[in-house]
Amino acid sequence: MFARRVMVVGTGYVGLTTGACLASLGHEVVCADIDAAKVERLRRGVVDIVEPGLAELVAEQTSAGRLTFVVGAGAALGSFEDSRPAEVLFLCVPTPMGAGGVADLRAVESVIEEVGAELAAGTVVVNKSTVPVGTAARTAELLERTDVAVVSNPEFLREGSAVKDFLGPDRIVVGSDNQDAAERVAALYARLGAPTVLTDAASAELMKYAANCFLAMKLSYVNAMAELCERVGADISDVTEGIGYDRRIGQAFLSPGPGWGGSCLPKDTHALLQVADSADFEFRLLRATIDTNTRQRQRIVDKVRLAVTGKRTGSLSRVRLALLGLTFKAGTDDLRDSPALAIAALLRQAGAELVGFDPAFVEGKDGAAPPTEIDGVPLAADAVSAAQGAEAVLVLTEWPMFRTLDWSVIASAVKRPIVIDTRNIVDPATLRRAGLTAVGLGRRGDGDVAE
Ligand code: UDX
Repeated sequence: MFARRVMVVGTGYVGLTTGACLASLGHEVVCADIDAAKVERLRRGVVDIVEPGLAELVAEQTSAGRLTFVVGAGAALGSFEDSRPAEVLFLCVPTPMGAGGVADLRAVESVIEEVGAELAAGTVVVNKSTVPVGTAARTAELLERTDVAVVSNPEFLREGSAVKDFLGPDRIVVGSDNQDAAERVAALYARLGAPTVLTDAASAELMKYAANCFLAMKLSYVNAMAELCERVGADISDVTEGIGYDRRIGQAFLSPGPGWGGSCLPKDTHALLQVADSADFEFRLLRATIDTNTRQRQRIVDKVRLAVTGKRTGSLSRVRLALLGLTFKAGTDDLRDSPALAIAALLRQAGAELVGFDPAFVEGKDGAAPPTEIDGVPLAADAVSAAQGAEAVLVLTEWPMFRTLDWSVIASAVKRPIVIDTRNIVDPATLRRAGLTAVGLGRRGDGDVAE
């Protein structure tokens, strides 16, 4: 296998995973970031991101000499062995959602400005961040180099399994109008033996949105179906199990929840809507997917009202609620666009008093003390302390530890024995045995629909 010299700009979640994994495939990788303190920590082997296997891989590849960290893209250029030039430059800088749902490309632009003119002839610039359709073309324009090709190579990494997803991908997508450059980028991954889709840049860029928006649509569909189950007396877990056996549908991504969140799905659904708008296409299905998700948060609040007050319109003023799980999903400390926090904000607006617990924040980072509050929600040290005196306990993130909590201890801590499990992860029979009333989503027999 032919190892390449790879420069990765941006050591966030995507960049660091890309850098460490490409190094583990045998390439010589230099990662650059503008945050000098972060680079310093990475050099010491301190990885701020909670991602299984990532810290170990960074340590292993750093000591093998295949992975180094530098401050600034300019410094990366001269950091390869024997001062040889980088052959591939991965852009893994943030592309946050800007005004009107369009991705903000300033970080990409500033990297091009910094190193574009310095790249050796024949370098391939790869867009790894999720970017609007047309960004590869725009990057090429900014570069103003006929001897440097631009390729789109979207990542499909899930938080909490990014290393696993990178090294065992369902597919590799590489898009470019320069076939030779696309093949060189695909070759970086050859050892993984994954199906590879070689296409044009615009199709590769659209594919990332198409995948994430499809997943969002699947989840909104399931959440809507769970609501329908409640109304007709059916059970969502039986329904999803049954439809999931159809291989065209599949079992994955069919769990109802408090709504989808995180750093990708919300951003990408809005961005694709924007792409559609600017192409004069009214993407009704996508709009409904987003609206269903927004409504899902209110629906959880309505469930809490009904469970606690017996009325859909009952007041939550001064009602103490314990929130278990604040991250957008289990296995991460990421709070970006977390449905749990959106629900917390709605509950607080309604006058409720909140106490949260999340296992991701039990310990502080890099020797610091753990946070005492998140987004205005005071944090308790454990689930039982959070539940103390609560009129309802809400399970908002599917952390496995919530399944195995000693619910009888929770039952003796709470003021009223109500558990609203928005992830359907705690066994209702266990809760009932502990003397707690279980309210889930779309479950037969929960009896929380009628007023
Ligand atoms: C997602 C995509 O899965 C990944 O391919 C892409 O590259 C980045 O965006 P991620 O944001 O890490 O990954 O989260 P993911 O695991 O997809 O979950 C997204 C949201 O859906 C979370 O809020 C999660 O809790 C929710 N979810 C997921 C459900 O409610 N039910 C499910 O069955 C699955």
